[in-house]
Amino acid sequence: MRIAIGSDHAGFHHKTALIPWLEDQGYEVHDYGTFSEESTDYPDYAIEVAWAVSTNRADRGILICGTGIGVAITANKVSGVRAANCCSEEMARLAREHNNANILTFGGRLVSLELAQRMVEIFLTTPFEGGRHQRRVEKIHRLTGR
Ligand code: RB5
Repeated sequence: MRIAIGSDHAGFHHKTALIPWLEDQGYEVHDYGTFSEESTDYPDYAIEVAWAVSTNRADRGILICGTGIGVAITANKVSGVRAANCCSEEMARLAREHNNANILTFGGRLVSLELAQRMVEIFLTTPFEGGRHQRRVEKIHRLTGR
């Protein structure tokens, strides 16, 4: 599975720790930055990760900022993206089962690395339930064509 990952300065620590952890499990990880703790603008990285998922250059995306909110708002502007900002294992599971989320976002200032790893693992391994949830996701995508 190909994973696009990105963060601003507030998510840099978690991103840096997650990349080798994911690679050790066999995931192909594409890092879209940022590459230091210097203050920067989260939309720049959220747009790149969202485009990678939208154009099928990545199967899933992970975005981290201080709260996860700014990157989620940005990514959800891109056609075909379903970004879910999560702060628990249950939210990560439901984001996949009910929403078929293709980008997980979370707050580097709010979520421990241990919880982030558990959410990422759930997000990458939980299938979409389809059925009534498929109909609902299709209604969302009628807004933009997909
Ligand atoms: C940066 O200070 C912070 O605003 C950003 O990381 C994010 O939380 C925005 O949603």
